[in-house]
Amino acid sequence: MIQQEIGQSGIQASAIGLGTWAIGGWKWGGTDDAASIDAISAAIDNGITLIDTAPAYGMGRSEEIVGRAIHGRRDKVVIATKCGLVWHHQNGPHHVDQNGQPIHRYLGRASIIHEVEQSLRRLNTDYIDLYITHWQDTVTPISETMATLEELRDQGKIRAIGASNVSVSDLQAYIAAGQLDAIQEQYNMVHRDIAKTLLPITVANNVATLSYSSLALGLLSGAMTSTRVFKGDDLRQTNPRFSPENRARVAAFMTAIEPIATIHDASLAQIVIAWTLQQAGVTFALCGARTAMQAQENAKAGTISLTPNDLAKIDSEIETHLAAI
Ligand SMILES: NC(=O)c1ccc[n+]([C@@H]2O[C@H](COP(=O)([O-])OP(=O)(O)OC[C@H]3O[C@@H](n4cnc5c(N)ncnc54)[C@H](OP(=O)(O)O)[C@@H]3O)[C@@H](O)[C@H]2O)c1
Repeated sequence: MIQQEIGQSGIQASAIGLGTWAIGGWKWGGTDDAASIDAISAAIDNGITLIDTAPAYGMGRSEEIVGRAIHGRRDKVVIATKCGLVWHHQNGPHHVDQNGQPIHRYLGRASIIHEVEQSLRRLNTDYIDLYITHWQDTVTPISETMATLEELRDQGKIRAIGASNVSVSDLQAYIAAGQLDAIQEQYNMVHRDIAKTLLPITVANNVATLSYSSLALGLLSGAMTSTRVFKGDDLRQTNPRFSPENRARVAAFMTAIEPIATIHDASLAQIVIAWTLQQAGVTFALCGARTAMQAQENAKAGTISLTPNDLAKIDSEIETHLAAI
C-alpha cells in the first residue's frame, strides 16, 4: 500500500482511505451495522489506515460505528472526521434536513469546541488525527475558525487541520491563517473541476488533497448495471449521473479499459481508483465501502502502478466515453 503524508503534519497514512458516509446510512438507503464493522475491519486488514467519517453521516451513527470497529486497534488507524454541519443550534446558513431536523453550516469557536467533544466520545478516542471543516460557513471569518482549530491542535485533541468544499478564496484564507494540512474535495473521472483551481494551490503549499466520491458514488465501480435500482433515501435514485444513458456510457468505458485491468491482474474499480490516485495533486483517494468485499477490493488498488501508456489510454477513453456525463 502506498503511504502518503498529510500535508506538513508528519502523519503518514495509506493513500487509499475508507470513506464511511454510506456506513452512516443517511442518503444511502440505510445501513447495516454488522456489515459496516466487517467492511472497516477488512479495510484495516488489507492495509488501509486512513478512515474518513463525519458527524453528519447519520447524525453520529457513522462515527459511532467507526468507534466500535476500531476498538483495540486505535493505534493502527488515522481518523479523519469533520466539524461545521451542526444540529445543536441554528446559527449559520441552513444546509439540509436530516430526520426532520435542520442541519446548519457553522464554524464558530464555541460550536467547534462542542462538536469536537461529541466526536471524541462517539469515536471512543482521545484524539482525532485530521479534523476537517465539512462545509464552509459564510458568517464566521476563516481566521476565527482556524484559530479555534489550532487551539485544539495545541491541546492535542486533533493532530492536523483540513477543510472541505472550499472555494479558491476560502483555501487562500485558510493557508494565510495557519497550517492547513489537507483539503477534501470531489474528484473522480467524471468530476475534475478542482484540477485547474484548487490543486495548483495545494501543490504549491504542501497541502494534501483527499479526493472524495472517487468512484463517483459507485457509478465507476465496474459493478453498476443498467438494472440496479436504488432504495429508500439513496441519493443516486434522483441523481442524473445514474441515468440509463450514462450507465451505458460507463459500461462502454469499462469495456475499453478492461485490457489494462487484465494486464495488472486488477478489477475495474481498482484501475479507476489507481488512476485517481495518480492524478497530479491527488494525495489520497477516499473510497466508500459497505461490505468487506468492497473494502478489500478497493484497498488493493493502493498497490497498483499504472504506466504512462496506461494513463494516456485511460484518459483517451474517458474523453471518448465519459465527457458527456
Ligand atoms: N467532504 C464531503 O463533503 C464529502 C462528500 C462525499 C463523500 N465524502 C467522503 O468520501 C468518501 C467516499 O465517497 P463516497 O462514499 O461518496 O462515494 P464513492 O467512494 O465514489 O462510492 C462509494 C459507493 O460505491 C459502491 N462501491 C464502492 N466500492 C465498490 C466496489 N469495489 N464494488 C462495487 N461497488 C462499490 C458502494 O455503494 P453500493 O454498494 O451501494 O453501490 C459505496 O458505498 C465518503 O464515504 C466520505 O467519507 C466527503
